[in-house]
Amino acid sequence: MSTTRPNLNRLENRVAIVTGGASGIGAETVRLFASEGASVLIADMDEDGANALASEFGDEVAALKVDVTREEDVAAAVAEATDRWGSLDVMFNNAGFGGALGPIDTTSVEDFDITMDVLVKGVFLGIKHAAKVMKPQGSGSIINTASVAGLQAGYSPHLYSVAKAAVIHLTKTVALELGENGIRVNAICPGIIATPLAAGRPGVSDSHLEKLKSALGRSQVLGRIGDPSDIAMAALWLAGDESTFVTGHAQVVDGGAAAGRKWSKQGEWITAERPIKMYRPEGR
Ligand SMILES: NC(=O)c1ccc[n+]([C@@H]2O[C@H](COP(=O)([O-])OP(=O)(O)OC[C@H]3O[C@@H](n4cnc5c(N)ncnc54)[C@H](O)[C@@H]3O)[C@@H](O)[C@H]2O)c1
Repeated sequence: MSTTRPNLNRLENRVAIVTGGASGIGAETVRLFASEGASVLIADMDEDGANALASEFGDEVAALKVDVTREEDVAAAVAEATDRWGSLDVMFNNAGFGGALGPIDTTSVEDFDITMDVLVKGVFLGIKHAAKVMKPQGSGSIINTASVAGLQAGYSPHLYSVAKAAVIHLTKTVALELGENGIRVNAICPGIIATPLAAGRPGVSDSHLEKLKSALGRSQVLGRIGDPSDIAMAALWLAGDESTFVTGHAQVVDGGAAAGRKWSKQGEWITAERPIKMYRPEGR
């Protein structure tokens, strides 16, 4: 599925940075933002992937090798965007990976640190350096990719879930500060989205992703898992003027997964025909 691109120029004259923009959700967001008139900097540690995507466009899309765990890299990305295009209107802190896997008693401190560095410190640095530019501007939209795993236990590994919960809370605390400077800060909580991350390895083939979609889709409320375009559309809404009264919000985009089990999997009561038995007051 690809994003419908109505080209309403909803981000005309806006400048955006998309971290993790070389693949999956980030790449689809780069395409959508550019089609809506934005200038976009792809900030990703996958230099080849970022350059390849940028080469699909003209001067309105550029790429920079950025490791979001390194403050100098994130600062350089913000400087690159503002030097090229004169402002920074949208910061999409989206880079991520699956983090440490396995039981808690075998999780190493090193894996804990790497997971938190990418998923929490990376978002913190993106917010921090975007704020340095957006505060004097008096405007901006910061969007952080969290996860339904940050809202509810049992969706993902321990540290990924904890990191995403931290992203949601950081979104809210910072929204309260930066709202006074005209800057909105929101998170998106995707459910399962067909990307290399969900497939468990970078650079996975499209045919493998198609298999993943059909294997997991049947168990989902809407009969499918998410497409990167589902999240890109949410990011577009949060980036643009249709959401100017929205801040400190964690937008769930999960096809109903966090609402609970799909109806047909809930138990035998869904087909039971016997009349309900309940206490009825006299006379009713
Ligand atoms: N796919 C899902 O099911 C799902 C669900 C919930 C949340 N998310 C979140 O969505 C975001 C995007 O993931 P995706 O599914 O598109 O995965 P993806 O693997 O397709 O893309 C992730 C991108 O982030 C980049 N990246 C990783 N570490 C980085 C670093 N230190 N610095 C810079 N770039 C780095 C990778 O190179 C890659 O291009 C992540 O934050 C992920 O946790 C994904």
